[in-house]
Amino acid sequence: MVKVKTCVFISGEGTNLKNLVKRSRNYNFPIKISLVVSNKAKARGLNYAKKYSIPFLIINTKNRNFENLILNNFNRYQIELVCLAGYMKIISKNFLRKCKKKIINIHPSLLPKFKGLNTFKRVLENKQRKTGCTVHYVNEKLDSGYIIKQRSFFINPSDNETSLKRKTQILEYKIYPEAVIEIFRNN
Ligand code: GRF
Repeated sequence: MVKVKTCVFISGEGTNLKNLVKRSRNYNFPIKISLVVSNKAKARGLNYAKKYSIPFLIINTKNRNFENLILNNFNRYQIELVCLAGYMKIISKNFLRKCKKKIINIHPSLLPKFKGLNTFKRVLENKQRKTGCTVHYVNEKLDSGYIIKQRSFFINPSDNETSLKRKTQILEYKIYPEAVIEIFRNN
């Protein structure tokens, strides 16, 4: 199987990166992680790139040229899919227009509810019965692109932000790979 060369963007822990790397080692999984981009030099997730010998790029978003640097590396590594996984910066309109690759993101809520930051806190404050996570295409509006996959669970009265995060991430590790498979199923 010819695998789709994929770049994962991170800013922190990188547990979704780790999960995608592990899944992509399976022969039948449609993508290969060929590049990792981080806007934080100290992101823990970079350890997975190092561990699995995946090339990585640390960007400084204050540098005027950082988007071109990423695009040049996309060419260099023949990237066709971009997976945002805990990347805490907004992808600019300019980048979206120039990039022309599929870009997807995982968000820890049942979009269109609770776009943006502090989702678990807001989910609890708003006394939701259910929460979950969503994989969606990235467009010019924050957390608003076409939804590829979503999974939910019921909230217990004893849940707090920590437990919601843990439960949500367990579902994230399931649906991010599932969404990737779904994207390439018909291609
Ligand atoms: C995930 O929970 C994801 O929903 C959100 O950021 C978190 C990243 O976690 N966008 P990790 O860096 O993959 O561990």
